[in-house]
Amino acid sequence: MQPLIKLQNISKSFDDTQVLDDFSLEVKENEFITLLGPSGCGKTTILRIVGGFEKPDEGRVFFEGKDITAMPPNKRHINTVFQKYALFPHMNIGQNIAFGLKISGKSDQYIRDKVKYALKLVNLSGYEKRKIDSLSGGQQQRIAIARAIVNEPKVLLLDEPLGALDLKLRQDMEYELIRLKNELGITFIYVTHDQEEALTMSDKVVVMNGGYIQQMGTPEQIYNEPENAFVADFIGDSNIIDAIMVEDRVVKICNTVFPCIDEGFGRNRHVDVVIRPEDIIIKRVPEDYNPKVTDTVFNFGDGNKNTLGRLFGTVTHNVFIGVHYEMEIEAGGFTWLAQNTVNYPVGTKVAIDVIPENIQIMNKPQTKDEEAMEIDI
Ligand SMILES: Nc1ncnc2c1ncn2[C@@H]1O[C@H](COP(=O)(O)OP(=O)(O)OP(=O)(O)O)[C@@H](O)[C@H]1O
Ligand SMILES: [Mg+2]
Repeated sequence: MQPLIKLQNISKSFDDTQVLDDFSLEVKENEFITLLGPSGCGKTTILRIVGGFEKPDEGRVFFEGKDITAMPPNKRHINTVFQKYALFPHMNIGQNIAFGLKISGKSDQYIRDKVKYALKLVNLSGYEKRKIDSLSGGQQQRIAIARAIVNEPKVLLLDEPLGALDLKLRQDMEYELIRLKNELGITFIYVTHDQEEALTMSDKVVVMNGGYIQQMGTPEQIYNEPENAFVADFIGDSNIIDAIMVEDRVVKICNTVFPCIDEGFGRNRHVDVVIRPEDIIIKRVPEDYNPKVTDTVFNFGDGNKNTLGRLFGTVTHNVFIGVHYEMEIEAGGFTWLAQNTVNYPVGTKVAIDVIPENIQIMNKPQTKDEEAMEIDI
C-alpha cells in the first residue's frame, strides 16, 4: 500500500548548522507515528516540513504519492497543533475553535455542533464564551487540540501537545487521541520527548538523535529490542554494560558468563548489553554465604539448577516509588539498577539473575549514524 506521507532524503540546515541529513520516513494512512528524541534533535523541523511551514534544502515530501514539497500549508490536508499553541487572543474560545470551519464556509448550525463536540472531547464543555487569557496553560493546550480536530484533517501534526497537562489529564487526553484516531481515521504524526507518551499511543515510534533516526519500530520493539545504547538509554531506565560475546548464546558480563539467546555476533567480540531494571531477579543470600569467584560455571551448588548467569552483591540504595522499590545493587564492579515489589533494604546481600531472554545484546557503535548517538544529550 502506498504511504500517505513520504519524506524522501530530506536535508535541512539553519545558517551553517545541519539539522536534518538525508532523512527519510514513510507514514501509512491511519497510523499513529511518534517522533521521539531529545531537545534540538530536529523533531519540530520535520513537522514543519510536513506541514509546509519550512522548505527542505534537499529532498521531497509526498502526500498520497503526489509531490507537495512546494505546496503551501493551507492547501495541504494537514492540520498542526504547534508546540507554542497560537490561539487568537481577541477571539473567545468558541470563535477560536470555529475559525477553520468558518473559513471553509460551513453552516452556523454545523459549526455550533462541531464546537460543542470538540469542547466535550477535550473536557471543556460550556467554555464557548470564555476568553483565551482566562484559561490555564493546560486548558489552552486542550483548546488548541480541539481547534485542530474540528477540521477533521486527514493528518494531524501534534508538537508536544500534552506538555502543559498534569499526569491525570495527560492520560485522559492520550486515551482521547487514540479514540480519535480509531473513530475518525485521522493519521497522526506526534512529537514528544516523553518516552511513556510515545510508547502508550503509537503504532510506530521513531527514535531520533542529532537529526538521524536511531531506530524505528513498534513500542514493543523499541522497548524490548533497542538496537543501540542511545535508544536503550532514552527509552526507560536501563543497565547498559560493556560485555564480551564469548560465542553464540554466551555473553560475559562483569567477568561472569551468562547464557543469552543472541547469535551471530562472532567470538570474543566487545558488545553493549542492555538489561531492564524490572528484569533483574533478586534473591537474598545468607550473610555468611561466600560464593566462589567463578568465570564459567552457571551453578553455584546452592540448588540453583536454572543455568542462569549469576552475580553476587549488596543493595546500596533503595527507594519506594509506588508499586515497587527501586534499588541500586553493587555487583561485579557495576552499579545495577533494579526494581522489585519486594523490599531488600540497604546492606542486604543478594544474588542477581537474569533469564537469557532478558539480556539484549547490541553491537558497539560503528556506522556514521550510530556514532551520532554518542553525542552528548
Ligand atoms: N528557524 C530556525 N533558525 C535557526 N535554527 C533553527 C530554526 N529552527 C530550528 N533551529 C535549530 O534546529 C535544531 C532543531 O530544532 P527543532 O526545533 O527541530 O528541535 P526539536 O527536536 O523540536 O527540539 P525540542 O524538543 O526542544 O522542541 C535546533 O538546534 C534549533 O536551534
Ligand atoms: Mg520542538
